[in-house]
Amino acid sequence: MKKHCQGEKLKNFNHNLNVPAPEEHFYLKAETRENLERISRLSEAHPVNVLVAGKQGCGKSTLVRQFAARNSRPLATFQVGILSEPGQLFGEHRLRDGQTYFQPFLFPQAIQTPGCVVHLEEINRPEHPKALNMLFSVLSEDRSVWTDELGYIEVAPGVIFFATLNEGDEFIGTEMLDAALRDRFFVTILDYLPMDVETKVLFEKTGIDEGDALTIVNLANRLRTNTQEPIIISTRHTLMIAEMVAVGASVKEAVVGSLQMNSDVLESVLLSLHLELGMREKSPDKGYVAY
Ligand SMILES: Nc1ncnc2c1ncn2[C@@H]1O[C@H](COP(=O)(O)OP(=O)(O)O)[C@@H](O)[C@H]1O
Ligand SMILES: [Mg+2]
Repeated sequence: MKKHCQGEKLKNFNHNLNVPAPEEHFYLKAETRENLERISRLSEAHPVNVLVAGKQGCGKSTLVRQFAARNSRPLATFQVGILSEPGQLFGEHRLRDGQTYFQPFLFPQAIQTPGCVVHLEEINRPEHPKALNMLFSVLSEDRSVWTDELGYIEVAPGVIFFATLNEGDEFIGTEMLDAALRDRFFVTILDYLPMDVETKVLFEKTGIDEGDALTIVNLANRLRTNTQEPIIISTRHTLMIAEMVAVGASVKEAVVGSLQMNSDVLESVLLSLHLELGMREKSPDKGYVAY
């Protein structure tokens, strides 16, 4: 029986850590891409942590995945936002046939895999701030942590921690993040794409025509900057709208179907857009490059 438990333990410990496939048509500021390339080089010399902050749906998770893909590194992603106890990332005690055993999770394996990109999602939102305690140890200079169950764990060479942080959420634990973690991270701030680049993303990714893409982006920007009732529409959202258009919806149907918005407001925004749609000329997208 014991043997069985041990086997199970090893099997689960040995998750596959894969190098993700790159995503096409992902755009970043040239300086951000350059910075990421430097960070990858730096990680060969000493431990590196990167904090990526920005509004939801602006490409933070994609950036981390893309970084792993572009540098042929395995990627492991962990939802810090749902952690409620310090040791929870490492594993848990389980019961089988009246016996308890320790079930390690993916995290200890990931941090012991050389070159791994370890993505800590929503680091600003652990359910319990103490949940970050054990993370502090692995993120600190000595890059090691003691656990009662697994013993002393050292972070493997070349491992990079990427923490992503949703700006605009409730910042539970942010002060702690400031005090204990901020200065251990290189910080990258992402914003929504400029209009012309977002338009390009929509038609490149979904195949809709450029005019429809531009209408969607114009509409989204109009709503984003609506002074009375600004609505946050992420790139994820404009992509969803474009996908609906790609399978036959009109822009209006697609917007109504995905934004849950008052159709009177939409109607007036669309009307004002149509009146202005002589303004379809584009500005050059200088400064943004494919990554
Ligand atoms: N800069 C960008 N270029 C291309 N696609 C983007 C960009 N930003 C976001 N997207 C798309 O929007 C969706 C959501 O992005 P994601 O990385 O999950 O956002 P976040 O993690 O910031 O919430 C993805 O499908 C992604 O491909
Ligand atoms: Mg994300």
